[in-house]
Amino acid sequence: MAAVTAQNAAIPAIGLGTWELRGRVCVRIVEQALRLGYRHLDTAEMYDNEREVGEGLRASGLRRADVFVTTKVWPTHFSPPELERAAKDSLRRLSLAEVDLLLLHWPSSKIPLSETIGALCQAKRAGLARHIGLSNFAGELLEEAVKLSTEPLICNQIEIHPFLDQSEAVAASRAHGMAVVAYSPVAKGAVGKDAVLARIGKAHNKTAAQVSLRFLVQQDFVVIPRTSKVERLSENLAIFDFALSPQEMAEIHKLARPTGSVLTS
Ligand SMILES: NC(=O)c1ccc[n+]([C@@H]2O[C@H](COP(=O)([O-])OP(=O)(O)OC[C@H]3O[C@@H](n4cnc5c(N)ncnc54)[C@H](OP(=O)(O)O)[C@@H]3O)[C@@H](O)[C@H]2O)c1
Repeated sequence: MAAVTAQNAAIPAIGLGTWELRGRVCVRIVEQALRLGYRHLDTAEMYDNEREVGEGLRASGLRRADVFVTTKVWPTHFSPPELERAAKDSLRRLSLAEVDLLLLHWPSSKIPLSETIGALCQAKRAGLARHIGLSNFAGELLEEAVKLSTEPLICNQIEIHPFLDQSEAVAASRAHGMAVVAYSPVAKGAVGKDAVLARIGKAHNKTAAQVSLRFLVQQDFVVIPRTSKVERLSENLAIFDFALSPQEMAEIHKLARPTGSVLTS
């Protein structure tokens, strides 16, 4: 499995997103994804599915060390005692001794960042997480988080797909040696309706979604597409056997807009 390296970490280049996957569907999709070759799972306390993600992981029969598991702390739990409790609760639900990556899900306007970053670093030192990082951080908050952290912040997980220009947040994250993890990498399914991606896909015998994911991994982003359909698990994984030309990459870059977020769609 290809990986993106950052500081002392290697993150598998594709992971399974699990937002909105619940119950038996979640268990089954996680198990199937791992059987098909995924080695990276992305969950969060907010997704209310950590139990099912853990169950799918155990059902796959894989060794714990072979799967990279990320979870995230929600901002209501950003005070130091709350963060420690939230991380331990996540581990209990996942039935794991540690996660590979623990992220701050979104910046908080209520709790001072210095306290939260201190608690995140402490969670790592206490062995609750092998690595720590951020999600949805940009601008001054990103700079402040990096300055405050006494442990390496290995990634920033942000919305990235062909329709959204995130060049500033990407450059800032990379300037601090962070890997960039692209969430909503198939724009919540909207890539399927794009004529440019479909045309480029046709030339490679690939779908528009595969072109979108290839476009991202070719820029050294980690991608974490979510699907509730087993057949799409294989489709989304089959992106390492073709390459987009510089002309095709440039054409896809032209689809990006500062206002192209699909988060609330
Ligand atoms: N850190 C954050 O704040 C944050 C925010 C959002 C997401 N995330 C993470 O990133 C993951 C991915 O983002 P996302 O769930 O927002 O969006 P996404 O992965 O871009 O899109 C998921 C949607 O696209 C469809 N889809 C998946 N593969 C497809 C394919 N090959 N062709 C056509 N449609 C396809 C899925 O439908 P079917 O189920 O019908 O296949 C689903 O409705 C999340 O699950 C979560 O783990 C993190």
